[in-house]
Amino acid sequence: MGTSSPSSSQSESSADTAAAPANLTIRAREPSDFAQIAALTNLPKVRWGTLRLPFTSKEQWRKMSEVPPDGMTCIVAELGGVLVGIAHVTQHKGRRSHVGNIGILVHDDFCERGIGSAMLAALVEDCDNWLNLKRLELTVNVDNEAAIRLYKRFDFEVEGTRRADTFRGGKYVDSLFMGRLIRPGWPSVNRHRIRHKDEPD
Ligand SMILES: CC(C)(COP(=O)(O)OP(=O)(O)OC[C@H]1O[C@@H](n2cnc3c(N)ncnc32)[C@H](O)[C@@H]1OP(=O)(O)O)[C@@H](O)C(=O)NCCC(=O)NCCS
Repeated sequence: MGTSSPSSSQSESSADTAAAPANLTIRAREPSDFAQIAALTNLPKVRWGTLRLPFTSKEQWRKMSEVPPDGMTCIVAELGGVLVGIAHVTQHKGRRSHVGNIGILVHDDFCERGIGSAMLAALVEDCDNWLNLKRLELTVNVDNEAAIRLYKRFDFEVEGTRRADTFRGGKYVDSLFMGRLIRPGWPSVNRHRIRHKDEPD
C-alpha cells in the first residue's frame, strides 16, 4: 500500500494492490459521506454479511458519522466519485488497548474486484505501523466464504465459534471469531489450542 511511504499522505492514498482497480482511492471517512454510507449499508449482500438492519435512515447515519465511537479509524474506498466500500478499526481501551476490532464491507455491485483486499491492506498497515496494535480481531458469519477467505489471506486465524450469534433473515447463524497476532515472537493461536486426549501431538 502507498501509505507505507513517508512521502504519501496518511489520510489519503491510491490503492496499489495488484487486483484493485487503478483509480481506486482510499481515504478517511468524512461526515459528508453519510448519504452514500446509508445507501451502501442498506444493500442486501452487505446486510447479509454484517449486522446492519434494514431501513437505517440517512439521518441515523448522519448522526453516527458526526460523532464516531472513541478509538475508531474509519476509511472509505471511492471509485470515480462513488463510495464502494467502508472499513474501520476500533482500538479497545485500558488493558486491551493493544487490540483492534475490524469491520469491512464492499458495495454489492463492486465485490470480487480487490476492493476489500485494498481496504484491509490499508487498515492492517495503519494498525501495524502507526497505531502499534498487537492483536486484530473480528467476527464473521460461518457461511461468509468471501470474508473468511479475505481475512485468512491477511493472516487472521479462526479462534472459535459463537453459536447462534446473530439473527439474520429469520434464522440464527453461528459466527467465527478470528484473530491476527502481529508481532514476531508472539504465540500463534494454534499453540494454545486445546487438544483432545486421543489426538496425536
Ligand atoms: C467480504 C467482502 C468485504 C470481500 O470484499 P471483496 O472486495 O469482494 O474482496 P476481494 O475482491 O479483495 O477478494 C478477497 C478474497 O476473497 C475472495 N472472494 C471474494 N468474493 C468471493 C466469493 N463470493 N466467494 C468466494 N471467495 C470470494 C477472493 O477470491 C479473494 O481471495 P483470493 O485473493 O485468495 O483469491 C465483500 O464480499 C463484502 O463486503 N461482503 C458483504 C459485507 C460483508 O460480508 N462484510 C464482512 C463482514 S465480516
